[in-house]
Amino acid sequence: MTAALEIDGLHKCFAARQVLDGFSLHVKRGEVMGLLGPNGCGKSTVLNIVCQLLQADAGQVQLMGQPLARLGASARARIGLCAQDCALYPDLLPAENLHFFGRLHGLPAAQRHARVAELMESFGLGPYAATRVGRLSGGWQQRLHLAVSLVHRPEVLILDEPTAAVDVAARLELWRLIEGLRDSGTTILMTSHQLAEAERLCNRVAVMQSGRVAALGTVPELLARVPGQAVVTLQSRDSGATIQRAQSLGWAMRQRAGQLSCLLPRQLSLREVVEALDGPEVSAVSVQAVTLEDAYLELVGDDAVIE
Ligand SMILES: Nc1ncnc2c1ncn2[C@@H]1O[C@H](COP(=O)(O)OP(=O)(O)OP(=O)(O)O)[C@@H](O)[C@H]1O
Ligand SMILES: [Mg+2]
Repeated sequence: MTAALEIDGLHKCFAARQVLDGFSLHVKRGEVMGLLGPNGCGKSTVLNIVCQLLQADAGQVQLMGQPLARLGASARARIGLCAQDCALYPDLLPAENLHFFGRLHGLPAAQRHARVAELMESFGLGPYAATRVGRLSGGWQQRLHLAVSLVHRPEVLILDEPTAAVDVAARLELWRLIEGLRDSGTTILMTSHQLAEAERLCNRVAVMQSGRVAALGTVPELLARVPGQAVVTLQSRDSGATIQRAQSLGWAMRQRAGQLSCLLPRQLSLREVVEALDGPEVSAVSVQAVTLEDAYLELVGDDAVIE
């Protein structure tokens, strides 16, 4: 079966800056693909090209096996976008926003009314039906934003940082809604800076660097690229001595945001780690399983490797 989205060889320059340099990514039908990468690496540029808000200098995108260039405007009816900047009208009520975007997509009135009622219900917006959107909290605005992107029942959903700037409770609710979409078979391409979010929601993750995909795989596949089975984070009053001790044990050392980390070649208990480090200079130690954040930091090279 052809992929839902086939993005091949995208190039994009803004002035003299080459943002996309042969970016390719295929998203299978029904999968949630996470696109990760540092600020400014070009994630939103890719999504905007897929949604035809930007034109690539070269390369092509196919939706369900058909080139976007040939589908033209009809592709917009098949793709839903929840952009990084909230596109809602603050002076309108939630349902009025849904109707507005439903009209833009040309939904016939009866179908639109039914769809708006269904989304108000499934997104729990009922209690806020009489509240102007500008007065809703950030979390509820983001929920409505997600509902708006679904008003025309798109085959592919594009989410650009869907939970940025919302609190923990609102994020969990949005995760639940996105999981519901995933479980009902919606194809999703999403960006995020929250590694725990990508780990929880995405079937596969692509890590972007230098304008293209630098690593692609399921979360376990990316975790397997970390040269360690567990991560020890520690504080030491004499980091030189601690580094020497850890390295003599064969542990790979990293400096992360001023903190020392070691990658353990095999899983050890906290007691075994403390005994192995054995020194009065070590004041705090924690041992954790390798996470997507560790894999990401290894891949984008933000960690200083201590040789
Ligand atoms: N319309 C534009 N005109 C000029 N430069 C642009 C334009 N859009 C994006 N850029 C630049 O292209 C680069 C990539 O931007 P983009 O928004 O795609 O990054 P991003 O990966 O989404 O970043 P973030 O994680 O901060 O959202 C940035 O340097 C940005 O300043
Ligand atoms: Mg962006």
